[in-house]
Amino acid sequence: MNCKEQDYVLGTHDAEIGRLQLQHGVWRQHVQDCWQRSGIIAGMRVVDIGCGPGFASADLAETVGSQGHVIGIERSERFIAFAEHHCRARGAQNVSFVMADVMQDELPITDADAIWCRWLAIFVSDPQLLVSQMAGMLKPGGKLIFHEYVHYETYQSIPPSTRIEEFIIHVMRSWRDFGGEPNVARFLPAYLAAAGCRVLETRPISFSAQPHQPVWQWPASFIDVNLQRLLDLGLVDADWVTAVKDDMRRLEANPNALLITPMVLEIIAEKI
Ligand SMILES: C[S@@+](CC[C@H](N)C(=O)[O-])C[C@H]1O[C@@H](n2cnc3c(N)ncnc32)[C@H](O)[C@@H]1O
Repeated sequence: MNCKEQDYVLGTHDAEIGRLQLQHGVWRQHVQDCWQRSGIIAGMRVVDIGCGPGFASADLAETVGSQGHVIGIERSERFIAFAEHHCRARGAQNVSFVMADVMQDELPITDADAIWCRWLAIFVSDPQLLVSQMAGMLKPGGKLIFHEYVHYETYQSIPPSTRIEEFIIHVMRSWRDFGGEPNVARFLPAYLAAAGCRVLETRPISFSAQPHQPVWQWPASFIDVNLQRLLDLGLVDADWVTAVKDDMRRLEANPNALLITPMVLEIIAEKI
């Protein structure tokens, strides 16, 4: 199977691994609550699809315990190497990783109890194929659990910044140029129905944070890391990057400023 680090719009570099770790820390409590409501319990076989560097995989391994098993599926060889190291360091022995491109490869699982899919559907060229691949990996009654964006434009600062609005437009355009769809969650209910699945529960999630609050670091670090990424991809110029950074510095120095995070739609569905 082929891994294509260069084909992934956000990159697989160290700064991105650090950002994904921070992001998982901000979301961790919400995610564990979601897994609990989805019925993930000890002894289950759970897939973390598009698992990246494995931060959620390691937490899932704790949730399913030594009688259960977690399989992380990921296309990046670099992320898989990090995920294996991270899980070993946490003492998780019930996790394994499969290097596969979910758009091209046959996935070697047919009996999963649940599949966790976070921020993968936004990047794939055919999210309907992704949903049907997921349905194919589940037992009847198995759960499909998504955290994917539904209204990326919710991402904004208060007071507003034209530069940050331009940043959001650049990010959405770059994802679409690489074949993804930022607001993919809008399409998932129809794809789930077509794949023989029933939606059980949905909820929109967006946070709002002041500069001193830990959640601020999630949208702020995304801007920081991805300004450099947009520059590296040749999609923006250095003067504009400096101007966005200046606006971010002004916001961070303003105790009344807010960052509103892009809206995620949580979907819990089951294979009929
Ligand atoms: C934003 S990261 C999210 C990682 C992880 N799910 C998390 O929440 O931290 C998206 C991940 O999807 C992976 N990915 C993108 N397209 C893929 C594909 N076609 N097959 C497998 N993995 C893919 C990327 O390599 C990356 O690790």
